[in-house]
Amino acid sequence: MNTVFADGDPSGGVMFLGEAPGADEDRQGLPFVGVSGQLLDRMIEWIGLERDKNAYISNIIFWRPPGNREPSSAEIAICRPFVERHIELAAPRVLVFLGGPSAKTMLQKSEGITRLRGRWFDYRTAGMQARDEAPIAAMPTFHPAYLLRSPQHKREAWRDLLAIKARLDTAADA
Ligand code: URA
Repeated sequence: MNTVFADGDPSGGVMFLGEAPGADEDRQGLPFVGVSGQLLDRMIEWIGLERDKNAYISNIIFWRPPGNREPSSAEIAICRPFVERHIELAAPRVLVFLGGPSAKTMLQKSEGITRLRGRWFDYRTAGMQARDEAPIAAMPTFHPAYLLRSPQHKREAWRDLLAIKARLDTAADA
């Protein structure tokens, strides 16, 4: 129904990248407005930010895959250059990849989210590399929809968020 591009404001220094819009997001044209969005809002509050004021949210796919199926590799490939340019323009200090598809696509890794989460990666698009720009600190963590299904993993997500908060606080002081 709608293109779902982004919500929030990148001035807080952090950009969250999810997977693809669901039915609620498609209806409203905004990312993360359904139940997993409510948990994402709480995760954003845990790190002392507010969605409308200083957190920035987008996805690696801008349209809802029919029937909520997983995005195909062709759909991911079509959106990817726009996602990369979006990151370059938003220029966050910290990038958070929510869930395996986002982390694996953007970091070009084959490992699953359980192995990738909680680790810092240097993220640089080809354009940033060509311009010799500094990489962005990027951390994968669990997707809020996964945390709703498997709440026992909230402890690890909380640890990831604390590391993200510490990084943002350090970057803000620098
Ligand atoms: N899940 C996502 O990955 N993105 C959304 O926008 C909503 C749910």
